Amino acid sequence: MTELTAPEGNIARTSATGRDEMVPELLAWSSSLSHDRLLVREDLLGSAAHVTMLRKVGLLEEDDARKLRGALFAMFDEASAGTLVVPDGEEDIHMAIEARLTRDLAHVGKRLHTARSRNDQVALALRLHVRDQAARTLGEVGGLVRELAMRARRETGVILPAYTHRQRAQPVSAAFVLGAWAMQLLRAGEVLSVAIDRANQSPLGCGACSGTSLPIDRNVVANVLDFPAVTDNALDTIGDRDFAIDWTYAGARVLLALSRLATDVVDFTTSEFAFLRIGDAIAAGSSMMPQKKNPDVFELVRGKASRGVGNLSSMLVLVKGLPSGYARDLQDDREAVLSTGPLVRGAVRAVRAGIVHLSFDPETCIAAVSDGSTQATDVAEALVRKGMPFREAYKATGQLVHSARERKIPLSKVSLADACAIHPSFDEGVLAVLDPRVAVAAKKSAGGTAPERVSEQLVTIDRKASELARKAEGIPTLDALKTRVESAAI
Ligand code: ARG
Repeated sequence: MTELTAPEGNIARTSATGRDEMVPELLAWSSSLSHDRLLVREDLLGSAAHVTMLRKVGLLEEDDARKLRGALFAMFDEASAGTLVVPDGEEDIHMAIEARLTRDLAHVGKRLHTARSRNDQVALALRLHVRDQAARTLGEVGGLVRELAMRARRETGVILPAYTHRQRAQPVSAAFVLGAWAMQLLRAGEVLSVAIDRANQSPLGCGACSGTSLPIDRNVVANVLDFPAVTDNALDTIGDRDFAIDWTYAGARVLLALSRLATDVVDFTTSEFAFLRIGDAIAAGSSMMPQKKNPDVFELVRGKASRGVGNLSSMLVLVKGLPSGYARDLQDDREAVLSTGPLVRGAVRAVRAGIVHLSFDPETCIAAVSDGSTQATDVAEALVRKGMPFREAYKATGQLVHSARERKIPLSKVSLADACAIHPSFDEGVLAVLDPRVAVAAKKSAGGTAPERVSEQLVTIDRKASELARKAEGIPTLDALKTRVESAAI
């Protein structure tokens, strides 16, 4: 284990700040180190890229650059192995690493911060983190979406009601419901993809707020770290956390999609709905009620969504009212930004692991639409197909529904003679649509629940999920990035 300790007191003390250490309680209270430890690998890569650039433009001797890069990569490996210990006592991880380098490499370590401020350094570490985490999360969202589409293909024969106002509305296939869940997640995936793009610009070289008079080349850092571009305005860049807002928003969107899916699952597993059975492997019991088989996993997913929304709202409120440029308030972005990835991926994995232990009960599902009332619109549409104006068809069907209710019989049991007494246009063909399977098969409009439309939707889902997966794979992992930075010529 190696410790990152400063050679002589706090590294950022100057005659302006006073050479004495900051009041210990205030240093401890104001330090971001406890959160920053999760950013250490990003920061080390950023510094290694910075050293590479300093060497390229002649601001560092080759030997110094080699020593600095070697030390940074060694720390990266320790951090990857979990053996790098970052003790308290510095304001942030950036200071702690510089302190360690200065301790290990003496005067060479003191050259690292040339043409750099912590303001652009923090922005760089955060952008690397967001880009990486958003890509990893996108990959997992894509995996879940594909899994939902595969499951949908196995559930095409299950017919159940779709709901509006949580009242039975119209019959649909379970494949169609699974497709709806997948579509929501896909859109959240698209937002993640945008979040990747927003983070994907290099801020390094912006300095404290206005650039540097030293002859740096920001594109070298961008290129080494695989950023397609550099940011445009230094003052904007160092106070910009829009990319972090976009990331927490994307995370919240994934969690919202999962949370709505979870509510369907929670409802459908109740004995009131009973469309889904919970497998023992994911069922939680009650400490008191022996009969209980609870869908806790899905309730927890819904619960976690509130924390995702909390992360987004804390980011929004954090930047509201800040002046242009950097303000220390921004350090409080850490918790929201750093917790979003594990929070979202945890929920994605829970749903993915949980859903395979849910099974539809086809009989209960179709029984919920077998009395015919959810096919009333189909009856009206069958009359429209015979040439009747929709409002007239709606009224005639309404009367049919009313008379069935009056007689306390299901709509599907009304006789043709009784129907004809209400309106002569009723015939066998019209009443045939009371069969839920016929009604489902008839909804052939684009986006509808007819089997051929659902197949098309699943093809679209697969295609978009693959596009998103490709996007995610195109973003280097931190390990791949290390190899890239390491192999950059100096
Ligand atoms: N510790 C701060 C953070 O992590 C960085 C401080 C940067 N600038 C400053 N002048 N204090 O956001």
